[in-house]
Amino acid sequence: MEISIKSGSPEKQRGACVVVGIFDHRKPSPAAELIDKAANGYLADILRRGDMDGKQGSSLLLHNVPGVSAERVLLIGLGKEREFRDKAYKEAIRTAIRVLGDLGVGEAGLYLTEIPVKKRDLGWNVEQAVLQANDMLYRFDQMKSKPDEHKKPLRKLILGVQRRGEMAQGEAAAARGQAIAAGVKLAKDLGNLPGNICTPTYLADQAKALAKEFGLGIEVMERAEIEKLGMGSFLSVAKGSDEPPRFIVLNHKGGDKKQKPVVLVGKGITFDSGGISLKPAAEMDEMKYDMCGAASVLGALRAAAELKLPLNITGLIATCENMPNGRANKPGDVVTSMSGQTIEILNTDAEGRLILCDALTYAEKLDPACVVDIATLTGACVIALGHVASGLLANDDGLARELLQAGETAADRCWQLPLWDEYQEQLKSNFADMANIGGRPGGTITAACFLSKFAEKYDWAHLDIAGTAWKSGKEKGGTGRPVALLVHFLMKRADAS
Ligand code: BES
Ligand code: MN
Ligand code: ZN
Repeated sequence: MEISIKSGSPEKQRGACVVVGIFDHRKPSPAAELIDKAANGYLADILRRGDMDGKQGSSLLLHNVPGVSAERVLLIGLGKEREFRDKAYKEAIRTAIRVLGDLGVGEAGLYLTEIPVKKRDLGWNVEQAVLQANDMLYRFDQMKSKPDEHKKPLRKLILGVQRRGEMAQGEAAAARGQAIAAGVKLAKDLGNLPGNICTPTYLADQAKALAKEFGLGIEVMERAEIEKLGMGSFLSVAKGSDEPPRFIVLNHKGGDKKQKPVVLVGKGITFDSGGISLKPAAEMDEMKYDMCGAASVLGALRAAAELKLPLNITGLIATCENMPNGRANKPGDVVTSMSGQTIEILNTDAEGRLILCDALTYAEKLDPACVVDIATLTGACVIALGHVASGLLANDDGLARELLQAGETAADRCWQLPLWDEYQEQLKSNFADMANIGGRPGGTITAACFLSKFAEKYDWAHLDIAGTAWKSGKEKGGTGRPVALLVHFLMKRADAS
């Protein structure tokens, strides 16, 4: 979808449709006022009659409004002005895009972006409009023999700002939004692809394609090289499947040579059956999404490269299947990680931490500025935080604050859980340096405690995206989270460097 920014005069906007907002109690937004003025009070009449009351979620389509160049004017209810915060704004954009989609309009002028949102600025409004529109227009039908039939999709969206002087800010935000949206789409596509297509080999091929398109450095290691590195924990998971594992290293070299890289580490389990500790059948299909951490690393790198961020960023992806074949891990097995620490595998379904720990040890070689891993790691995180916030745990409070803030500005939030020493007790093993599970209490925290033992040499944070990376039920599908959070985190780092 093409995006452009336009200032003022919605009444002169040509084309199929202009979209303006109406608050509760029939109060027009600034652009709606201008339309009303051009139309000699036509809008005020309609509002007075009560055909549009400004309630959230409502909309009214008008044809041939006098004095207005566009063929149609779409009114969108915004709800109470005092309560016009993130959620109401996003809903308004989504309602507009839904109605435009139903109409089959190819091009529209959206004047909701100029409406002030509590605690946000114009740049945020524009970026969110771009992200929400892309999210609404997203379709995944590449696995269907015939693509789903749709009305003509929205090709072009013109976003309104009130003053000429705001054009540059609007345009920069639109470009940011488009780059993030492309990263989100990549993450969604990879997540939605089934496990028989999106294998570790496929993920590596996608990483190679991305590297080629954006001039990133890439290295893909196969089993022999992973063995040479001594990644015994990662390989113990991989050997339970006939699909070969891959270890992917991607580099965006946007900063100067000596600048330490920000390292992003993604969990890339392309299917998690649980292994010998087999998962129950219900909803097991959703475990194709167990590579969404890896997908978000690729999505974030794509956006960073497109935005040419002046920052060195390295993406590390450990990818394999978790399957129960004759060579699979068994409960009670002890494996030796790349760090030399030994691990008693008490549950083969706690495999994410087994592959991530070796990637975290590998990260030491890179002399990182900091390391952030992203993983669909624990069902417990879904219980703790639901589907709204990703879990955040960190061994450095500064880094945690940066990620909390990035989530806030990106409207892709995370919430910090404690990583206190007291929890480490739960990982004690009678037979190895540690166990790979810590029992049911605080499952998200003990998983992070496990990882922290491999991240002692640098500032490290962990994002548990088990509840946020995809949706279940009727709207089943990848969300592309937390690409937006990661890109905002990287942009801020690039600014500061
Ligand atoms: N990939 C799962 C976590 C998961 C489960 C994400 C459900 C989203 C929804 C992970 O590998 C896993 O199986 N974790 C176990 C850990 C347990 C055995 C300590 C879990 O959460 O049940
Ligand atoms: Mn598992
Ligand atoms: Zn898993």
